[in-house]
Amino acid sequence: MDSKIKTLNEKLELSKLGGGQARIDKQHQKKKLTARERVLYLLDEGSFEAIGALVTHRTKEFGMEKQKCYGDGVVTGYGTVNGRLVYIFAQDFTVFGGSLSETHAEKICKIMDMAVNVGAPIIGLNDSGGARIQEGVRSLGGYADIFYRNVQASGVIPQISAIMGPCAGGAVYSPAMTDFTIMVEDTSYMFVTGPNVVKTVTNEEVTSEELGGASVHSTKSGVAHKTSANDIECLEDVKKLLSYLPQNNKEIPADFDIELKEEVREVLTDIVPDNPNKPYDMHQVIEGIIDKDSFYEIHKDYAENIIVGFARLGGKSIGIVANQPMFLAGVLGVKSSKKAARFVRFCDAFNIPILVLEDVPGFLPGTDQEWNGIIVHGAKLLYAFSEATVPRVTVITRKAYGGAYDVMNSKHIGADMNFAWPTAEIAVMGAKGAAEIIFKREIVASEDPEAKWKEKEAEYAKLFANPYSAAERGFIDEVILPKNTRRKLIKAFSMLENKEVNKPKRKHGNIPL
Ligand code: HXC
Repeated sequence: MDSKIKTLNEKLELSKLGGGQARIDKQHQKKKLTARERVLYLLDEGSFEAIGALVTHRTKEFGMEKQKCYGDGVVTGYGTVNGRLVYIFAQDFTVFGGSLSETHAEKICKIMDMAVNVGAPIIGLNDSGGARIQEGVRSLGGYADIFYRNVQASGVIPQISAIMGPCAGGAVYSPAMTDFTIMVEDTSYMFVTGPNVVKTVTNEEVTSEELGGASVHSTKSGVAHKTSANDIECLEDVKKLLSYLPQNNKEIPADFDIELKEEVREVLTDIVPDNPNKPYDMHQVIEGIIDKDSFYEIHKDYAENIIVGFARLGGKSIGIVANQPMFLAGVLGVKSSKKAARFVRFCDAFNIPILVLEDVPGFLPGTDQEWNGIIVHGAKLLYAFSEATVPRVTVITRKAYGGAYDVMNSKHIGADMNFAWPTAEIAVMGAKGAAEIIFKREIVASEDPEAKWKEKEAEYAKLFANPYSAAERGFIDEVILPKNTRRKLIKAFSMLENKEVNKPKRKHGNIPL
């Protein structure tokens, strides 16, 4: 075989390389996988088809014409995950630091366009030093082409980003506009400008990990929705996440087969403590309601006073938003409102019904919250629930106080079914504070103000520290025993399955950003 033909054959072999040949040994969990290994691990065996494997960059400056590499630093193509079609790109840090050239961008745009036209998720495995510096504005244009497509695809197909190495400059903005970002601990980081630039501009000394590591973005900034211990875990997390999602916004998520019985869950009976000021873990309530081990938590370590995540209920995918009394008594704050609002909007865009578990004493007071815009951020959650047209069901387990009662998927803002446990307290505020305000004169004038205050507190609590006043008005559809919650919810969501809401025509609303 002459050498020319041999080279061509090698090229064709390269472009044909499919999944399956290189399943990754779990012993290699600590190792960073190559871009191709990542793709092959994520996709079903034998399902990967590469697109554009022979593409090379067109840059001539800085001696670049002598440094060409097939694929130009990104593996792109399609395949299946658990039998369902996905489009994928994986950046290769070994080629110019995974940096984005004009052609690298064209490859990504090509599969993004296909993903939108066909209606299947797009998954980006990111590992990139940002815009390819040797290309100047051509690489910036390439980024903008991707950003534009991220926005056009938003709410049409699920977009998932795995951050599996350094991601700097433009490399962070595309993930930021996708639906979910998962970061690998210790080996990945994201920042707009790296430690060197930070030092030059602000004189601040900071390591890459401190500036934009997985722990920073999962706890402080909220940029990362999830972290994974290594590449393998990260890819498994992507697979699991996909299992809750539909292929596109015209479909509903796939059901899991499950045999339903009585579905009474006694374990829910004793979770809420007798003392209304004692915390309890809302995760226990979630686990008590959903199908076994089906909770997939999003933003687990960020704004822990609210819990959001996907689960299955009777085999069907749902989104859960739940106050967490274990942290800050479950109050709504700036971060928790933003976290929940984004999740609600994702569920609504992709036809995933929403369950709200409510135990909220109100909004977090104080200058920190006010100065950081709790008014506008709290309004985000109010707006997100109010515009959501998917089936929406609420269970009030304990407190539903003040504005937070309205915000947390009340009937007034369009929830379909609202249940309350007998332990529910639905009022403008807690009995103690309420008594102090409305009976102030009586308390002050009393011979024993402390005793008077207690008496008035009890009076107010008797009237409002229960779910019955709200149920009398129809704001609560039914007061249910905790053990019956799962049964009631399965029936309610099934009843709402064909819900359709027709809204007046408009270009788009104006959510308080
Ligand atoms: C071209 C790049 C590159 C880039 C890295 N490389 N980034 N080549 N363009 N953007 C190359 C390096 O020259 C090196 O090549 C190889 O990739 C590995 O890089 P190292 O620096 O050795 O790796 P590491 O120490 O791990 O550091 C990784 C890094 C660092 C943190 C990503 O490389 C870095 O800071 N790169 C620049 C990041 C950056 O400022 N990007 C912003 C571009 S502007 P050799 O040949 O030596 O192996 C931008 C604006 C877009 O993105 C705005 C849109 C909104």
